[in-house]
Amino acid sequence: MFIAANWKMNLDKVSISKFCDDLYNYKFSSKVEACIFPSIPYMDYLNNLIKKLPISVGGQNCHYKSYGAFTGEVSPKFLRDTGCEYVIIGHSERRTINNESDNEIKLRAQSAIDSNLKAILCVGENNSHREKGYALKFVEQQLLKCLPNDFKNLLVAYEPVWSIGTGKIPNVSEINEMHDHIKKVVLKSTNKKVKVLYGGSVNVENIDSILNVINVDGVLVGGASLKVKDFLAIYSAAVKHLNNSM
Ligand code: PGA
Repeated sequence: MFIAANWKMNLDKVSISKFCDDLYNYKFSSKVEACIFPSIPYMDYLNNLIKKLPISVGGQNCHYKSYGAFTGEVSPKFLRDTGCEYVIIGHSERRTINNESDNEIKLRAQSAIDSNLKAILCVGENNSHREKGYALKFVEQQLLKCLPNDFKNLLVAYEPVWSIGTGKIPNVSEINEMHDHIKKVVLKSTNKKVKVLYGGSVNVENIDSILNVINVDGVLVGGASLKVKDFLAIYSAAVKHLNNSM
């Protein structure tokens, strides 16, 4: 079970310090893995603050080259160097705001994996695909275009674009159907099993129902991960879920 906290371009130094103070009063479980994805300038700062805790840090994106004239980009090697374990690739905000294409995302995912990062590849349909009944087909095609050629450390995050930051989520059978489909598509095309996280408006109220979905292996949380109380409540829900299912 994996909890990923995508802070996006939020939480400055003072807020991060306050957030981490509260983490030290909490008893983490060895069964649930957590990773926080801060803004790049605070990677080292956060990593130092949480080094005694079982939480890792990750990047929100990385480039497909390790070095070069790419102003404003971040190398997967540099992320690894600053202690990152994971990196998010192909988030819908990168796809829409930064025009990252499927092919570029594939290259970024491959370079992350080649640099010994675990890549979390994001896929998801928009509202019109879902309404027209194309959600499964769209995600399948997007996934096949973005899957790196060679991987051992890959997770997929199913993040319906219409759900991110909106408070709306698919119903549990839609989430289960999509996660099952993603797992089958990856298995068929690569012969590998993949874990699938759900992302999009995950919060303290809906976490239990999402975790109860059989094909959900964890969550990618945006807005609700910015408040330490909510982050820990989501983490606790995952621990409780695992204890109940044993
Ligand atoms: P949200 O964001 O939880 O605020 O909807 C999720 C994401 O963008 O990864």
